Amino acid sequence: MTALLQTSGLTIQFGGLTAVDAFDCAIQPGDLYGIIGPNGAGKTTVFNMLTGVYLPTAGVAHFDGTLINGCSPAQVSALGISRTFQNIRLFDELSVLENAMTGAHQHAKINLFDSLLRTPRHYREEKRQRDRAYELLQFMGLEERAGLPAKQLPYGHRRKLEIARALATEPRLICLDEPAAGMNTGEKAELSALIRRIRDELKVTVLLIEHDMKLVMGICEKIQVLDYGKTIALGTPKEIQSNPKVIEAYLGGE
Ligand SMILES: Nc1ncnc2c1ncn2[C@@H]1O[C@H](COP(=O)(O)OP(=O)(O)OP(=O)(O)O)[C@@H](O)[C@H]1O
Ligand SMILES: [Mg+2]
Repeated sequence: MTALLQTSGLTIQFGGLTAVDAFDCAIQPGDLYGIIGPNGAGKTTVFNMLTGVYLPTAGVAHFDGTLINGCSPAQVSALGISRTFQNIRLFDELSVLENAMTGAHQHAKINLFDSLLRTPRHYREEKRQRDRAYELLQFMGLEERAGLPAKQLPYGHRRKLEIARALATEPRLICLDEPAAGMNTGEKAELSALIRRIRDELKVTVLLIEHDMKLVMGICEKIQVLDYGKTIALGTPKEIQSNPKVIEAYLGGE
C-alpha cells in the first residue's frame, strides 16, 4: 500500500537548535495516527513543515506521491492537507457559519470573472460552499449556533469550529494540533467520538497531536513519540504505554 503521507529525514534547525531531527513517518490512507511527546518536543514544528509554514532544513515529505517540501500553505491545502492550530485562529467578528465557509472558499470552483460579474456560477458556488459549511457545523454539533459571532462561542465549541473549517477544505488528511486542549471531560469524550467519525464517515485520514493520554490512547491505532526533536518510539497504544523510553521521557519532563 502506498502511504498517503511519507516523510524521510525531515529536519529543521532554528539557529543552533534542531527542533525536529530526521522525522520519518508513513501514514496510510485511513490511519488515525497520533504524535505525542513532552512540551517542546517538536510536534507542532512537524505540522508546520508539512503545511508549508516552515521549509525543512533537510529531508523530504511526499503527499500522495507529490513532493511537498517548499510548497506554500495554499498549495498544500489545495493538494488535500488541512490543519487546526494549537492557538485557535478564528475570525471573531464573523459568524460561526462564515468562519466555516472560509475553509470552503479556499477551493472555490469559480474564477475572478465569475466573482466580479456575479454570474449564476458565482451564486451556485457560494450556495454550495454555504451548504457544505452548514453540513459540517451539523456534523460537529454546532448548527444551532451558526448565526452567532464566533467570539460568543464557548472555548470547546471554538475548537470544534476550527475543525469544521479545516474539514470545509475537503481534505484527505487533517492535522489536529491539541484539539482537546482546554476542554472538560465531557467535551473530550464527545471530541473523541467526532475524531473517529471524521475518519470513519468522512473518510479523512487523521494526524493528531494531543497531550491528553486517555484520548490519544483511546482512539489512535499508531502513535509516534517525539522527545527533543527525535522519534523515540513508534507503535500501538499498548506498546507505547509500556515503552521504557517513553516513560522516561515523560517522567524526566516532570
Ligand atoms: N520559529 C521558531 N524559532 C525558533 N525556535 C522555534 C521556532 N518554532 C519552534 N521552535 C522551537 O522548537 C522546539 C519545538 O517546538 P514545538 O512548538 O514544535 O514543540 P511542541 O512539541 O509542539 O510543544 P508543545 O507540546 O508545548 O506544543 C521548541 O524548542 C521551540 O522553542
Ligand atoms: Mg505544539
